[in-house]
Amino acid sequence: VKAALLYAALLAALVTACDDTSEDPADGLRGPADLPESARARLTALSPAKLPAPPEDPTNRYRDDARAAELGKQLFFDKRFSGPLLDESHNGDPGTLGLQGEAGKVACASCHVPEAGFLDVRSPRAQISLGSSWTRRRAPSLLDVGQATFLMWDGRHDAAFSQPFTPIEDAFELNSSRLFVAQQLRRHYRRAYEAIFGAMPSLDRYPALTPEEAGCTALPDDPLVTHHHCKRPGGDDPEVTRVVVNAAKAIQAFTRTLHCGPSRFDRFMDGDATALTEEERQGALLFVGKGQCDGCHAGPFFTDQRFHNIGVDPDFAFFIGSFPDPGAAEGVAAMRRDVLNAKGDFSDGYDDRWDRLPEDTSSMLGAFRTPSLRCVSRRPSFMHTGQFRALEDVVIFFTIGGSPEGGGYPGTSENAPRDFTSEERAALVAFLRALDGDGPSAEAMAAPTLPP
Ligand code: HEC
Ligand code: HEC
Repeated sequence: VKAALLYAALLAALVTACDDTSEDPADGLRGPADLPESARARLTALSPAKLPAPPEDPTNRYRDDARAAELGKQLFFDKRFSGPLLDESHNGDPGTLGLQGEAGKVACASCHVPEAGFLDVRSPRAQISLGSSWTRRRAPSLLDVGQATFLMWDGRHDAAFSQPFTPIEDAFELNSSRLFVAQQLRRHYRRAYEAIFGAMPSLDRYPALTPEEAGCTALPDDPLVTHHHCKRPGGDDPEVTRVVVNAAKAIQAFTRTLHCGPSRFDRFMDGDATALTEEERQGALLFVGKGQCDGCHAGPFFTDQRFHNIGVDPDFAFFIGSFPDPGAAEGVAAMRRDVLNAKGDFSDGYDDRWDRLPEDTSSMLGAFRTPSLRCVSRRPSFMHTGQFRALEDVVIFFTIGGSPEGGGYPGTSENAPRDFTSEERAALVAFLRALDGDGPSAEAMAAPTLPP
């Protein structure tokens, strides 16, 4: 009897001890109605009753045209717009795109792999992308890209129709040119193009470029340039540009249809208490509580669509060497100068999008766009550098508060330490994994039949 009493007392002490240490706000909670008031409001902001469709985009009047989306999908998958592979890494190994010197090997889908959430799981090393050569940053997912006002990690494009010009003309990506793309459109897509955009100009004042002549013939000497672009015939001709702009507007109509879709977190916020485990619920509370993650990963797509310097160290990021990336300070400045921007002649309209940017771009040195966290667990690596291979590592990064000052990243970091315990880190990772949706339909991802 004595022993039994002792045991009961011990057990009671143990239970009290547990109660004392477990001040977890989520303890014992069930559905969203039981969440603390402040957390519930912040979590509801991340999970409205219905995920909003992509906002109106006045820069592209074809953005929701179904025929344009169908054409855009074909263009997205078609390798025939690309010039020669310049990098010697192309040795025919799996993950490379062919052999150095071969042309017609790169499509948008080569780096934005549909089944993987339209991101790059193909390139060797799962870090940055191998197009014609190595890009300087990781390929972001295109799921919910229709929500973005500014594109690219650094805001280099403010209008989705201008974005494809970067991969097309960049020696590291398609290594092509707008004239070659326009000529290929005329060869292979004239009928579909004219049904949407009207007569296509003949452009026969220009020589027909071969795929080998489409872009650069050599890589730049300076390994630290972000993009490399060689002047080709027709590059300044508005008529040539207009044809490629229209093709790009069709591509936008396609990419606007790509969504991650509702997750278990949304089902939970919708009232299904069983949709999240206890650990995931704790993670949700940490995300809007101690972590203050929703300061930047805000709104239904977990991004404020703005630029922040969070102290991502470039030294251990870029396997070709250190790359102190200026980020939005350079990207946004280049976007403002670009004739293809939302205010330019090729845009169908302008809204107030620039008002969301600081006047002085130097304040954005080392800042990158907050990525959406929906479907984040599918990514093979994280950050613009792709330096982290696991969500656990990203959460450790935020626990420390970014790389130490003077760690090599340009500008000033806004990040700060959060001293999460190992349980808290595990809960946050579990929550991030609960943000997976079903992704686009199999039909949206299936490779289309391309015209001869
Ligand atoms: C060689 C790999 C590669 C190819 C090919 C490629 N991309 Fe990308 N894509 C990237 C990388 C890398 C980035 C990020 C670049 C940056 O931020 O500087 C990117 C960014 C983007 C973005 C911006 C996404 C965002 O959230 O900001 C869009 C949209 C996009 N690509 C569409 C396309 C389209 C359309 C094509 C074909 C015309 C294409 N890409 C071809 C690698 C590639
Ligand atoms: C000050 C704004 C800010 C805060 C606060 C913030 N993030 Fe981020 N987060 C970013 C930016 C910007 C990036 C991309 C940085 C880069 O690539 O240079 C990022 C990247 C990430 C990524 C990688 C996504 C990808 O595709 O590479 C994850 C995961 C992430 N954050 C989770 C969190 C979590 C969890 C918290 C809270 C503990 C948090 N973030 C707090 C701005 C922020």
